[in-house]
Formats: sequence, C-alpha cells, structure tokens
Amino acid sequence: MLSVLWLLSIISSVPFFAKGDVETSTFYGVQGTGHPLIIKSFPAIDNIQSELYEVYMEPYTYREGNSRAISDKDKQKNSLAQDLRPKSAVAVVTGDGISGEITFFQKQPPAGVVTVTGSVTGLPPGRHGLHIHHAGDLRQGCNELGDHFDPFLLQHGGPKDSLRHVGDLGNIEVGDDGTSEFKIEDAFISLSGGPRSILGRGIVITENEDDLGRGGSAESVRNGSSGKPIACGVIAYVR
Ligand SMILES: *[C@@H]1O[C@H](CO)[C@@H](O)[C@H](O)[C@H]1NC(C)=O
Repeated sequence: MLSVLWLLSIISSVPFFAKGDVETSTFYGVQGTGHPLIIKSFPAIDNIQSELYEVYMEPYTYREGNSRAISDKDKQKNSLAQDLRPKSAVAVVTGDGISGEITFFQKQPPAGVVTVTGSVTGLPPGRHGLHIHHAGDLRQGCNELGDHFDPFLLQHGGPKDSLRHVGDLGNIEVGDDGTSEFKIEDAFISLSGGPRSILGRGIVITENEDDLGRGGSAESVRNGSSGKPIACGVIAYVR
C-alpha cells in the first residue's frame, strides 16, 4: 500500500457520482483513524481515459513505508527525527544562452510542502512549462530525460490539480528582459526517499506554455503540449 497518497483509478460507474463534473465526497470519522476519508471522481475524457477516482485520507501524516500516522511521540524519537530534518536541494539549469538556479527546500520531510525558488536568465519572454522528468541523465543534453515524473501513473495536469504527474509544476513567467524569478510551493514533490522523491531527476523548462492538460488532445494529457526542452538541470542535494 502507498501510505502517503492512496490513489485508485478504476473503470467504474458507481451510482452516487454524477458524470461530467469533478465530484467530492467526504466521509468523516473513519474508524480507528480520526481522519476524514475523501473520494474525488473525475469525468472520463473521450478516447483518452476512463473516469478516475482518487481516494485519500487527510492530513498526510503518514511516514513513507509506515502504515500508521506520525505521532508527536514518534517525532521525539531520535531515529525518526533524523529522517524529518529539513532538506535542501539545487538544480543548476542551462540551455542555449540560458542559465540559472532552482533551489528546493522542504521544512518537514517527507510529506511537507517543498518551496521551489528559481532565478533563470536568457529565456524567451512569455510563459514556459516547468516540469520534473523521470531521469537526470544529461549525456544527451535535455533530450533523454524521459517523460514527466509520474510515479502514480496519472495523466498530465496543472500544479493545483489533485490528479497530475508529481513532476507537473505548471508554468513560469519570463519578463521582456528574458529573466524569470519564481517561487512555487508544492505538496506533491518530496526531497526524501520514497515514491515522490525528486532527487537525481531532471528539471526542464520548455519552449512553450503548458496547457495543464486542458488542450483536449492526447499530447495535452501527456505533456501539456509545451514543446521541446530549452533548458534543464539535475536536482541534487545541497551539503
Ligand atoms: C508530447 O507528447 C506527444 C504525444 O505523445 C509526443 O509526440 C511529443 O513528442 C511529446 N513532447 C515531448 C517534448 O516529449
């Protein structure tokens, strides 16, 4: 069982979900947990995917690999405190005339929000997709980094969508001077071990704007139709 995020995608026609809109049902007081159980249903997209259901419990206080929530008592134990120290990482991104740094900070690993702060110069003005890809192998420049990092085998989406690739960080804005300064807070990515860890993976800035999976095509739900990589780097721990 994936203890951090329970994701279930099934072909189904459960009668209490209406078709067409995203529906959310919350069941409070799930026995033995004290947390609400939330079920979201997402409508099917013709010829692309069946209906999707996301089932999860909030808050996400489950330590990866553990089937029980983190208690205050756990946090006091040294072995766990070791794992729960803040973590930092950086990616040095380069492209043709493009350079910059993207830093990552997670105050409360493994499930806490990650703050992503970027400063990149030499980019074409406008909006550009920002994605974490599966691999961090730069031997072929930015061209062999695989697809968007997607450990839960979902379709492409925007950073605010509940169902998305873990690597979907949306778009960055680039000013007329070719510079982008951005700060993103994301609760999907993690700097710790486990299925959502982005360490060692590639981060890519694309030539076009990401349509966040709303373009109505197979390409849109795979990579947001945001075109080729124009800059990339590898996400690495900071000592
Ligand atoms: C985006 O997805 C489409 C459709 O699968 C594919 O043809 C295209 O090469 C992908 N683009 C990138 C940059 O991977």
